[in-house]
Amino acid sequence: MSDIVLEARHISKTFHEQLNVPVLNDISFTVNRGEFVALMGKSGCGKSTLLYVLSTMDTDYEGTLLVEGEVMTGKPGSRLAEVRNEKVGFVFQFHYLLNEFSVLKNVMLPGLKLNRHTNKEIETDALKWLNVLGIENLSNKKPNLLSGGEKQRVAIARALINNPLIIMGDEPTGNLDKKNSKLVFDIFKDLSVKFHQTLFIVTHDPEFAARTSRMIEMEDGKIIRQ
Ligand SMILES: Nc1ncnc2c1ncn2[C@@H]1O[C@H](COP(=O)(O)OP(=O)(O)O)[C@@H](O)[C@H]1O
Ligand SMILES: [Mg+2]
Repeated sequence: MSDIVLEARHISKTFHEQLNVPVLNDISFTVNRGEFVALMGKSGCGKSTLLYVLSTMDTDYEGTLLVEGEVMTGKPGSRLAEVRNEKVGFVFQFHYLLNEFSVLKNVMLPGLKLNRHTNKEIETDALKWLNVLGIENLSNKKPNLLSGGEKQRVAIARALINNPLIIMGDEPTGNLDKKNSKLVFDIFKDLSVKFHQTLFIVTHDPEFAARTSRMIEMEDGKIIRQ
């Protein structure tokens, strides 16, 4: 098995309404298994745009993207969706939990969608992750009753349910106060250290970034340090 989980080769992207100024400009890097990467850079430098490309959601770019050695560029949408469900766990700034379902069901949903295990197995796994994240007691609650920090922990459990190759986060602590940011960070760190989970997290918090195992820095659509 290759140790490279994610590879960007000369990725560029231009939003044409912006006078053809590239938002991503010849981005190349690899992420190895087990790395905890922080993608840093000022607001507007292209971090979210890059994350959408890396996650296979945005297919309108130049260059080549590989996930676990498989070329994603040019693959049909059905294969990309399969790769996303199976290999990528997402944590966003806003949690996108469904208030009509319990916490437990929210965490189970990507597993039910992937349809590789029985409901019972998925439930057992969901409870395991809720337990690891210290929120098993919330499993029967509806998300709208939880605090911001608790919601984000549920979102992380949901991202873990399919045992993803990589967790991608877009400013996952951007909407949290200092205490909860630290809590969420400590969870990522734990996942990295105890479970060797590969993480690729966009942040503009330098304190957060300094505590990861690797920092990639962007400016005006380019990588200036990695
Ligand atoms: N859909 C879009 N159409 C046109 N311009 C966009 C679009 N999305 C983002 N941009 C522009 O691309 C640049 C990078 O945005 P973004 O990737 O969101 O930056 P970051 O996440 O680093 O704050 C910004 O100048 C933004 O205005
Ligand atoms: Mg952004």
